[in-house]
Parts: sequence; structure tokens; C-alpha cells
Amino acid sequence: MLAKVIEGRKIGRELGFPTANLEFFKPDEMPEDGVYAVDVQFGNETFIGVLNVGTRPTFGVSERTAEVHILDFSREIYGETLEIAVKKFIRKEKTFDNLENLKKQIELDRNNARCFDYAQHPCGRGH
Ligand SMILES: Cc1cc2nc3c(=O)[nH]c(=O)nc-3n(C[C@H](O)[C@H](O)[C@H](O)COP(=O)(O)O)c2cc1C
Repeated sequence: MLAKVIEGRKIGRELGFPTANLEFFKPDEMPEDGVYAVDVQFGNETFIGVLNVGTRPTFGVSERTAEVHILDFSREIYGETLEIAVKKFIRKEKTFDNLENLKKQIELDRNNARCFDYAQHPCGRGH
């Protein structure tokens, strides 16, 4: 799925998880709401990412958006095109009581995506 990186509200950065907000070239391709482990191709490099599709209920936002946090990546890519390949559904989007708990969950999502990539299977204990 090809998507263009657009400006977000930049709350992700404050959370410690910068995200690229996505506009899909073909809106029909946008996955169902949830959090996914993805591969993100940028130019000829591929990175691991965690994609969130939904309304971000923790922030009381109702607009449906897609955003990806790319692991081990800290470049400015506004306006660039990314190729996103979904590898695995991780969980549904949830409403968190506070930002600290959301941060902890995103940390788990990130580990989940990284571990899946190394092992090519969902993480078990000991990974
Ligand atoms: C992997 C991942 C999982 C997320 N899961 C949730 C979630 O379950 N609930 C929620 O309200 N927001 C979730 N978020 C969205 C964050 O709230 C979001 O990154 C934040 O609103 C920043 O948005 P911005 O980039 O537009 O500033 C998730 C974000 C990522 C990257």
C-alpha cells in the first residue's frame, strides 16, 4: 500500500514515539482499525514499523487516521511516499486512562513487531 506522509498533531513526539501520519493513495486499502506490525519501505530501505489505524480514543479525537511509528528511524519525511506492508495484526485500539499507560502499550507493540520480524513468528516467552 502506498501512502504519503502528512502533518500530524505532533503529540507522538511528546509521547516519545514520533509517528508519520499517512494518507493512502488508495483509501480503500486502509486496513481495519487496529495496531499492526508492518514493513515500511522508504526509497530502497526497509524498516520495521507499528501502524495504528483508528480514532485515537485516548485523545478524544473522532476522525479516523492511520499513523506509523518507524523503529530506529528519526528523519523528517513529510511529503515523502512510503510503501507499507502489513505483516500481522497486534491488537485493537484502546482508550487509556493516561499517557503513561499508552506509552507502555506502544513500547510493547514495538517489541512485538521487532520480535516478530526476527523470529518470523509471534513472540513467545524468552524472546
Ligand atoms: C503503535 C501505536 C499504537 C497506538 N495505539 C493507540 C491506542 O490504542 N489508543 C489510542 O488512543 N491511541 C493510540 N495510538 C495513537 C497515539 O495516540 C498517537 O500516536 C498520538 O495521538 C499522536 O498523534 P500525532 O502523530 O497526530 O500527533 C497509537 C499509536 C501508535 C504508533
